[in-house]
Amino acid sequence: MKLYNLKDHNEQVSFAQAVKQGLGSQQGLFFPLELPEFELTDIDAMLEMDFVSRSSKILSAYIGDEIPAHQLAERVKAAFAFPAPVKAVSEDIACLELFHGPTLAFKDFGGRFMAQMLAYVSGSDEQITILTATSGDTGAAVAHAFYGMKNVRVVILYPQGKISPLQEKLFCTLGGNIETISIDGDFDACQALVKQAFDDEELKRAIGLNSANSINISRLLAQICYYFEAVAQLPQEKRNQLVVSVPSGNFGDLTAGLLAKSLGLPIKRFIAATNANDTVPRFLGNGEWQPNLTVSTLSNAMDVSQPNNWPRVEELFRRKTWRLTDLAYGAVSDETTRAAMRELAEMGYISEPHAAIAWRLLRDQLQEGEYGLFLGTAHPAKFRESVEEILEQTLTLPPELAERAELPLLSHQMQADFAALRAFLLK
Ligand SMILES: Cc1ncc(COP(=O)(O)O)c(C=O)c1O
Repeated sequence: MKLYNLKDHNEQVSFAQAVKQGLGSQQGLFFPLELPEFELTDIDAMLEMDFVSRSSKILSAYIGDEIPAHQLAERVKAAFAFPAPVKAVSEDIACLELFHGPTLAFKDFGGRFMAQMLAYVSGSDEQITILTATSGDTGAAVAHAFYGMKNVRVVILYPQGKISPLQEKLFCTLGGNIETISIDGDFDACQALVKQAFDDEELKRAIGLNSANSINISRLLAQICYYFEAVAQLPQEKRNQLVVSVPSGNFGDLTAGLLAKSLGLPIKRFIAATNANDTVPRFLGNGEWQPNLTVSTLSNAMDVSQPNNWPRVEELFRRKTWRLTDLAYGAVSDETTRAAMRELAEMGYISEPHAAIAWRLLRDQLQEGEYGLFLGTAHPAKFRESVEEILEQTLTLPPELAERAELPLLSHQMQADFAALRAFLLK
C-alpha cells in the first residue's frame, strides 16, 4: 500500500512507514494512493461472511501484499475480539453499537488494530513513544490497547476537567508504560501540542515518536470494517436505502464511513452530525471555513472546532468526483441533545449525548422509504453523570468501569506549554 502526504503529494510512504510515522512532513495527513473498489457481487458475498473474515478482506484490499493475508487475518482476529451489534430503536432507525469492547467506545476497534499493526511493522528492539491527545475515549482505547506492550511508552494528553470523571478513571489509573497528563486547556490545545512534537525532528528521533490519534491511517482503516458489519446485519430490503448519521468531532469516523462507501458499500447518504462546535456544518452550508473558539458541550468528545481529518474527507470527495453538497449535516445544541436523550429513553433506548445527536439529526432528516442507522460511539455509562441527571435514573456500571472507578488517578498536570512537554518526553 502506498500513501501520499496531503501537504506534499511527492512524499510517498508504505503502509508500514505511515503506521510508524503517523503524520508526514508539515503535519500532513497520509492518504491512500489507490482507492480499491469491490464489485457488487463481491460486496454481496462479503456481507455473508463473519466479521473477522470480512474485515481481513477489506483491510487486505487497502494494505495489499505488505502483510501476508494469513498474518493480517490473525491480527484482525486479535484486535476485533468483540461484537458490533445493530439494535433497532424504532421501525426505521437502528443504532450500530460500537461500545462492546474493553473500553466501551468505538475507539477500541482502531486502537487495538493500530497496536497490532505497530507491533507487526516495528523491529523487536525499536523503542517507540506513542504521544496522543484525547477528548475522552481515544485515551482509554489507546492506553488499554498498548498497556504492558514491550518497548512502547504511551503518553496521553487530555483537557483538564473537560472529560467525564469515569472516562478519566478508565485510562489514568493504569500506570506501567501508560503516562497521562492533564493539560490546562481545551482539546485543540492538546492536539496542537502533539502537532508541535511531530514538527520537532530532534525530539521525534530521540524518542521514536508516533501518534495513535485518528490521524494514524491504521486506525482509520480499522473503522471501515464496522460499517460493513452494520450493513451485513440489515435485511436485504433495507440495504439500498441506508442513511448513516455519524456523531463527529475530529471526523475520523465519518472518513472511515466514506472510505467504506468508496469500496462499494451501498450507503445512500451520510449525515455529519456535530454539537455547537459546528465548523463543518457551517462550511457545508456557506462554503466558508471559519473555525470558532471551541465551546464546552455535553458531548465533550466532539468539542473540536478544527477537525483533524477534514482534509481527508475533502480529498476523498475530490478523488471520487463526489459532490460535497451530497453530504448531509447538522449541529445540535445541548438543549436539543437532552431532549433527544429523553425521547430515546421513552422509546426504551438509553443513549448518551454523542449518539443522541446523531439520532436526532437522522430522525429529522430521514425520508419516506429510507432506513436510518446512527453510530453508538460510547456506552451510556461512560457519561454516567450527565445521563443520570438528564434521564433521572441510575445506571448500572458495566464491570470494565466499575473496577476502575475507585482507583486513584495517576495523572501529571501541565500548562499548555510545549517546552514543558518536551522536557517531560525526554526525561
Ligand atoms: C463518544 C464519541 N463520539 C464521537 C466522537 C467523534 O468521533 P470523530 O473524532 O472520529 O469524529 C468521539 C471522539 O472522540 C467520541 O469519543
